[in-house]
Amino acid sequence: MYNPSETRYSGKMLYQYCGNSGLMLPRISLGLWHNFGDVDDFGVATDMIKYAFDNGVTHFDLANNYGPSPGSAETNFGRILKENFSGYRDEMIISSKAGHEMWPGPYGDRSSRKNLMASIDQSLRRTGLEYFDIFYSHRYDGVTPVEETIQALIDIVRQGKALYVGISKYPTDKARVAYEMLKSAGVPCLIHQDRYSMFTREVEDGTLQLAHEYGCGFIAFSPLAQGLLTDKYLHGIPEGSRAARSTGFLKREQVTEEKVEAVRRLNEIAKRRGQTLAQMALAWVLNHEFVTSVIIGSSSVRQLSDNLDTLNRLDFSAEELQEIEKIL
Ligand SMILES: NC(=O)c1ccc[n+]([C@@H]2O[C@H](COP(=O)([O-])OP(=O)(O)OC[C@H]3O[C@@H](n4cnc5c(N)ncnc54)[C@H](OP(=O)(O)O)[C@@H]3O)[C@@H](O)[C@H]2O)c1
Repeated sequence: MYNPSETRYSGKMLYQYCGNSGLMLPRISLGLWHNFGDVDDFGVATDMIKYAFDNGVTHFDLANNYGPSPGSAETNFGRILKENFSGYRDEMIISSKAGHEMWPGPYGDRSSRKNLMASIDQSLRRTGLEYFDIFYSHRYDGVTPVEETIQALIDIVRQGKALYVGISKYPTDKARVAYEMLKSAGVPCLIHQDRYSMFTREVEDGTLQLAHEYGCGFIAFSPLAQGLLTDKYLHGIPEGSRAARSTGFLKREQVTEEKVEAVRRLNEIAKRRGQTLAQMALAWVLNHEFVTSVIIGSSSVRQLSDNLDTLNRLDFSAEELQEIEKIL
């Protein structure tokens, strides 16, 4: 039996076993989707990785296409590792993924064996790593047979290019096929990565439960709804924010009056709890019993530090949860 309880080594970070595996993940992981590309400030990116690692964030999440430009987050991360972290590889869990559009032509997109095999080699070259700790199929693409994609993941592990594999954004029927196939091959699925926040709760309809049934961990991405679940949009769209930047995936029209009103009310509850809204939003996701970790994004060390303080207060009273539920 695995002990599901959280472990603290030093500092404030908590670690939890990922599903039925022997791998522990920090409850807060850092994603490099935004803010680490070649359009971003390399100094700030370096400071964030250093601050994260110094505070127990051992897990860094990449994908082949993160940037912009696509690939530049992996290149920058590789450079940061080389310049600052030589000797620390064994203390880090580094993941990457393939399956979204990365390079032009018929093989640079989707989840074929061709794409995954070419992509992991490119990602290893860009980062300068010998292996990834976790390699994901970034998505079920609606065309490629799941069996083809999953066989590629199995072979990637057998070739020593990744230690564990995961799936991302798989609908439950396809996830079940993947879990079964990986289990039979002796390469159990370590982790399912999907979107989960107070504003996006589809995974509560089966995805979380199914992962748990197969002993697979779950890691939530965009737990702050790309920044909506913070106090930053309460008074309009600030300059430099993700919704204001042309390279951001959060669009101005997604910052609706309805969302902002919900944020205003949630912010009041957070204040009463002595937390920022970002901290309460992260604690709410981590409060789900099947969630192993949240992958946050941040554009500054200050945000990162604010978000890591979430771990000072993770508990909710039944009344608070009810009040939040009403707003959502
Ligand atoms: N598997 C997939 O398909 C998939 C898809 C998406 C993401 N992901 C992973 O999940 C990671 C996180 O996604 P995400 O960046 O959307 O996560 P998020 O945590 O929901 O949003 C992060 C953004 O919110 C803002 N923010 C964060 N902390 C803040 C604070 N304390 N106060 C005010 N604003 C704050 C910042 O945006 P500003 O720029 O506005 O400051 C930051 O970049 C990605 O990097 C990636 O690794 C995976």
